[in-house]
Amino acid sequence: MKRSIRDLVNLEGKRVFLRTDFNLPMNNVGKITDATRLVNELPTIRYLVERGAKVIICSHLGRPNGFDFRLSLWPVALMLMKYFPGKVQFAHKTIGPEVQQQVASMSNGSILLLENIRFFKEETANDPKFAKELASLADIYVDDAFGVVHRKHASTYGVARLLPNAIGFLIENEVTIIENAIKTPKKPFVAVFGGGKVSDKIGALLNILSPADVVLIGGAMAYAFLMAQGVSIGKSLVEVESVKIAAQVLEKAQQMGKKIVLPVDHVAYRDGDKNERAFVTDDLEDDMIGADIGPKTIRLFENELEKANQIIWNGPLGKYEDPKFQKGTFKIAKCIAKTSAYSIIGGGDSISAVKQAKCEKLINHISTGGGVTLKLLEGASLPGIDIIQEKVI
Ligand code: 3PG
Repeated sequence: MKRSIRDLVNLEGKRVFLRTDFNLPMNNVGKITDATRLVNELPTIRYLVERGAKVIICSHLGRPNGFDFRLSLWPVALMLMKYFPGKVQFAHKTIGPEVQQQVASMSNGSILLLENIRFFKEETANDPKFAKELASLADIYVDDAFGVVHRKHASTYGVARLLPNAIGFLIENEVTIIENAIKTPKKPFVAVFGGGKVSDKIGALLNILSPADVVLIGGAMAYAFLMAQGVSIGKSLVEVESVKIAAQVLEKAQQMGKKIVLPVDHVAYRDGDKNERAFVTDDLEDDMIGADIGPKTIRLFENELEKANQIIWNGPLGKYEDPKFQKGTFKIAKCIAKTSAYSIIGGGDSISAVKQAKCEKLINHISTGGGVTLKLLEGASLPGIDIIQEKVI
């Protein structure tokens, strides 16, 4: 078991380098449009502040190529100031003498948010000199950036090697919930996969076949599975590689005696129709493009979900951003919310769909991770967690 911040003693006056994931969605004038990741981080920050630590917060925002004012963490600093009035300062520079001075003048229980760490290419390169400079700012390293624990970057890995370290509450909570769901699932366990590329999800799909009883597949990826079964998919877009992967998953499921449920009807439109007029069809003719699961499929999926005691959902079941093709995703979101099953939702699109369907309060766990949630479902190793010391018992 990894060392947690609860295991850190005598935090009073200690400089703590806290890596968070404040990669928050913002509009084009820098207004934060969803603060979930920041709100979920507050318990760890509060814990450190209340114990008199000097909390140096480091995060990335977006994927900049050098400095880009549109990806400044300043709007996040303003929001943090609201939660911790009088305690927050912003470091415009991330590293260097000015930041060192700011750290030196911090009082116990105060917070310094560093500017976007990804303005430096040394971050993603896990540059050892850069990591050393970051480490020189602090006495202790705490990782609570769940969204990037699969990244071997300077601030998620390099610094952790150089300081006594621990994980924060957010990582602890996310990892425990998702790992438990995979290792000791409540049965029947139904997994729902949707979204685009099968190749991004192959690891998670293959790994989930052992604990899951039923896997429901919708969204664009379903067409790769249907094609692998020789079903006509009209003009729906699939990559050749995805069809091969889908065939592999179907074969493994068959060997393991696991049930995979695919769409039996679709909400489609005709190729070349500028207005993409939607209609329901069982069969996709040559010029048709499937864009959502149809009513029979919704019923089929609901039947499986209603029997479940545990549900994991990742990826939308159609082009849900278009009102003509959102019924499947929203109906399934509502169905998952209504069941008494323990429900976990991961992936930005499924989370946003659940919020649009206004049923997020009825979901047991909404993961803050994006790609990392799939990595966890896949059982992949996570460098940001692997590097943390084991707890001494
Ligand atoms: C996310 O939004 O999934 C995390 O912040 C990770 O971001 P990244 O994929 O740019 O590393």
